[in-house]
Amino acid sequence: MNRLNILTCFFGVFLSINSVVAVAEEPIKPVTIIPYDRDKAAIGKLLFADVRLSGNDSLSCASCHILDQGGDDNVARSIGINGKPSKRNSPTVFNTGFNFLQLWDGRADSLEQQVKGVITSKAVMGMESWDDTVEKIAGIEQYNQAFQEVYGKPIEAKHIQEVIAEYERSLVLVNSPFDQYLNGDESAISDTAKTGYALFKSYGCISCHQGVNVGGNMFQKIGVLKDINLRDPNDVDLGRHNITGNEWDKRVFKVPSLRLVVQTAPYFHDGSVKTLRDAIDIMTEYQLGRKVPDEHKTAIMEFLATLPGELPTEAK
Ligand code: HEC
Ligand code: HEC
Repeated sequence: MNRLNILTCFFGVFLSINSVVAVAEEPIKPVTIIPYDRDKAAIGKLLFADVRLSGNDSLSCASCHILDQGGDDNVARSIGINGKPSKRNSPTVFNTGFNFLQLWDGRADSLEQQVKGVITSKAVMGMESWDDTVEKIAGIEQYNQAFQEVYGKPIEAKHIQEVIAEYERSLVLVNSPFDQYLNGDESAISDTAKTGYALFKSYGCISCHQGVNVGGNMFQKIGVLKDINLRDPNDVDLGRHNITGNEWDKRVFKVPSLRLVVQTAPYFHDGSVKTLRDAIDIMTEYQLGRKVPDEHKTAIMEFLATLPGELPTEAK
């Protein structure tokens, strides 16, 4: 080997080391398993898909969180038990155990709390009360037995909430191509997707969509740089403000996870935006105040397409 070869060889190694991502320093982390109780999750899995959890036996959690279609329901605003569209778009249930709070406005501080609210919500699942819910589920022998085996006592409301939440904690999608890349497999994603990730960071998307879930860990205003009316200007959803009453929380929402975004159109809290490209257009204009060339958007979309992982076999 002559000197030049040694030099280029050295330089080559240097370059490739430089281009390998160091997972510890990246603002997005690979999805890891969340510990959960399998016996409880097994009951939760049955309840999740059981329409008897709704007032008129017409809706289950799985009606609006369809697991083989990205964990949402593919409509702009979910249709509740009264047949009317609700105010909001259904987010995916996958990886939701990583979100710092639940729901678009963060009004549920745990998965249990979300279950507690949705089953007795008049507009969603329409059970009269938690006493009624417990009585109804306790009237089904299969559940009576299952709860007795796990908890050693008759069914309680908090245990129904807990088993469904435990099941949701099992719904994490691991080993996505992007996570493989973060873990050192350079060939796991295309060069365009790598460029897309670099652009996602350099344009500043990462300042809001970050962490394990590429979102789900902070609140931000929609329309940081200029006001935006997604739907009806006379019927604006004020988001977090409805919970806190704070002026600065007007139009503030939990930053959604982008892990499953390629499978969960339509977009935004009210489902008003049909395509991912349009959603990205709105983000660049209203959140960042930037003009972004089409090929950059395409690369960002290719990066986003590398984010969904798969259900671990034991959770299937
Ligand atoms: C009629 C459709 C519908 C049904 C039935 C339904 N959901 Fe949802 N789900 C939604 C909508 C819409 C939202 C967003 C509501 C909001 O943020 O105000 C949501 C939000 C959630 C979230 C929060 C996710 C996040 O990222 O913030 C979880 C978790 C969830 N649902 C789980 C469940 C479970 C468990 C059940 C059954 C007990 C259930 N849902 C029943 C439509 C539905
Ligand atoms: C200042 C914070 C912020 C920045 C920067 C930001 N976003 Fe968002 N993003 C949000 C918030 C908040 C929402 C939810 C808004 C709503 O539903 O009203 C959102 C929603 C989205 C959605 C729709 C997700 C869904 O499931 O409905 C996509 C896609 C998205 N952002 C991509 C991007 C991309 C790509 C960039 C960079 C070009 C970016 N965002 C920059 C805060 C931000």
